[in-house]
Amino acid sequence: MTRHVVHKSHPHDSGPLHVTGAAPYVDDLPTPSNALHACFGLAPVGRSVIESLDLSAVWAAPGVVDVIQAADIPGENNAGPVVHDEPLLAEDDILFPGQALFCVLAETRLQARKAARLFVLKARELPALTTVDEAVEANAFLHDPLVFQRGTVSTAIENADHSMASRLYIGGQEHFYLEGQGSLALPSADGLHVISSTQHPSEIQDLIADALNMSAAEVTVEVRRMGGAFGGKETQAAPLSVIAALGAQRTGRAVRFRLDRDDDFILTGKRHDFRADIRVGFDAEGMIKGVDGLLASRCGYGHDLSRAINDRAMFHADNGYFYPELELTSLRTRTDTVSNTAFRGFGGPQGMMLAERVVDLVAASVQRDPLDVRLANLYGEGERGVTPFGMQVEDNILPQLMPELAKTSDYRARRAAIIDANAAAGRSPIRRGIALTPVRFGISFTTSFLNQAGALINIYKDGSVLLNHGGTEMGQGLFVKVAQVTAEVLGVALEDVKISSTRTDKVPNTSATAASSGSDLNGWAAKLAALKLRGRLSEFWRTAKGIDGELTFANRRVHSPDGQSWPFAEVVRAAYLGRVSLSATGYYRTPKIDWDAATGQGRPFLYFAYGAAVSEVEIDTLTGANRVVRADILHDVGRSLNPDIDHGQIEGGFVQGMGWLTMEELVYSARGEVLTHAPSTYKIPCASDRPDDLRINLFDNDNTEDTIFKSKAVGEPPLMLAISVHSALAHAVSSFSPVGRWPELDAPATAEEILRTIAQEQAAAS
Ligand code: MTE
Ligand code: MOS
Repeated sequence: MTRHVVHKSHPHDSGPLHVTGAAPYVDDLPTPSNALHACFGLAPVGRSVIESLDLSAVWAAPGVVDVIQAADIPGENNAGPVVHDEPLLAEDDILFPGQALFCVLAETRLQARKAARLFVLKARELPALTTVDEAVEANAFLHDPLVFQRGTVSTAIENADHSMASRLYIGGQEHFYLEGQGSLALPSADGLHVISSTQHPSEIQDLIADALNMSAAEVTVEVRRMGGAFGGKETQAAPLSVIAALGAQRTGRAVRFRLDRDDDFILTGKRHDFRADIRVGFDAEGMIKGVDGLLASRCGYGHDLSRAINDRAMFHADNGYFYPELELTSLRTRTDTVSNTAFRGFGGPQGMMLAERVVDLVAASVQRDPLDVRLANLYGEGERGVTPFGMQVEDNILPQLMPELAKTSDYRARRAAIIDANAAAGRSPIRRGIALTPVRFGISFTTSFLNQAGALINIYKDGSVLLNHGGTEMGQGLFVKVAQVTAEVLGVALEDVKISSTRTDKVPNTSATAASSGSDLNGWAAKLAALKLRGRLSEFWRTAKGIDGELTFANRRVHSPDGQSWPFAEVVRAAYLGRVSLSATGYYRTPKIDWDAATGQGRPFLYFAYGAAVSEVEIDTLTGANRVVRADILHDVGRSLNPDIDHGQIEGGFVQGMGWLTMEELVYSARGEVLTHAPSTYKIPCASDRPDDLRINLFDNDNTEDTIFKSKAVGEPPLMLAISVHSALAHAVSSFSPVGRWPELDAPATAEEILRTIAQEQAAAS
């Protein structure tokens, strides 16, 4: 079928505004003349009991209008999305270093920031657990472990020809959205209007209503765009949005709240860091017989989304590989540190790191090209297609996709050349490495009820179309994709569809824009709304004109089967005069999924998104410096809604994943303070870290499921393509390893980490 608007590249609707700096974010909106500015006072200590908190100097500071403490919250003092264990403001205890103790409202931002430092705190510090290892040792867990089991893994490993064991530490990651957390609360006679940089307006609405003892109907939350979110604004926008709302309610004035970068770093959760323990049994060919894996993560002091994140780590601890017998255990440790949260991939990347370490270990041991071991262990048909959580993999394209990439990237010849070059390196400090790793990422929220979405489309008398839906725009291109869907169905041009901000008073009860399912869910909701409108227009026009048969809508015209056509706007105006409703909602819920957390079995995902990457790296063995020389990516987005946007997501995801696995290092003090809380100490990739030679291609196929125009989600999966960089770095280091060994390279593979593992391998070899 001919498509006019979808499957084509259209620029991001805000592209020109982004690159000229003209796109308004929350903090760029005009300040109401009476606005107050908010700032949190942050705990300078870790886990403690508060003995006294003297705020008299804060109150007395210039420009201070109000100071809010926990006791001033009329309703519930909670920012926790699932379990209500994360206070907006500290009560009797300090739960982690940097927790918000109070909030000051002042006439200017600088006055608020200065006043927020003038508190006098007396606190008795308690012993704190700050790392995964400490928490595992102390049996400190947020909830019960999740275990996937098949067969008897210990026997399978004992009976296998070979076995290997390894431990892998995987670091966390700060989101480093360029736009920090921000909100603007506007009081009105009808309630509160809060503009918030959030992926989840409906949740902010609920939390405000609960904290302020208001009904949800009295609170409107709006977001036009975020300057990046990456999961860091799925729940973490709550404290400042709720407190800004409370400030507005208390003072009757607008309240503007933007976190300073350091405060943002300290106060908000990050990607969970993990420890993975692995035992694997395999035969002489490298066929996996059994995997015994442990995934222990640092959740921090509160639940946040940790349960679902750790579940997703478990769902991806096999990546694309069949483990005949297995025991996978997930420990969710409770530590006295900031409560960790969603970050692109949502635990999936950490789980996949385990899987890729498993195959690298096996390949090193049996001395085969790791690609062959990967291919041999991919999911297959029947029994070999069943995941650890009992889902049959029906759409596996890795057996085609990986060889295709191996071929187009010339992987085999390059690997052989690299091995030769390393062997001949002599006194040269440069070693190279290469790896091809796949991605298989499950699409759907694993919390099933979240898989629903709504859209609202208005057609005005002039034929222009206003689109609204529950998804939020964070740079990923969701809005242009959903507008394309709408334009396609109504047969109008993309520019005829006006995109509008996400508002809880237009489309209610929405899910977070997360789990990469923004376009899957909202695209379908918009399609259903547009189909309703098209149906009404068709019916009206066929009757009016006495037409038999179907009308088609394309190129801004309505076409009858006999070849006549009329401008869309003319049909719309006639329909209005004929008293036809030109406004419609659409509602979609994902079919087929069901997952039982109690049994650990079911079908949590509608489908999988696939991809693979070949990365070639170079390390300097004197300094540990490393870089990616070339990367080739073949990624599956089904039938792309917008190839250029998808390309951008793949590139951005890959580079963000590289940052996580190579340079972004979070360092904590013994009491759990984040010491790396600014760009001066926390290094994210910049444009020059993008490999000069980066070749990205889309895998040519349709989604086998009935997704929106046969597309696939793209937001998160490409991040995990960067595991190829980590594996390639380990390959480079392995040029020092004795035969049969694979380096225990942790993540991030910083220069120090590379030097450490080189020394370890040299010691093992001598
Ligand atoms: N791309 C940009 N530019 N900025 C972002 O914040 N977030 C990622 C991904 N891509 C993000 C991004 C994350 S974590 C998710 S879940 C998806 O986008 C969410 O959007 P989608 O569901 O529309 O893909
Ligand atoms: Mo993305 S981590 O699901 O917001």
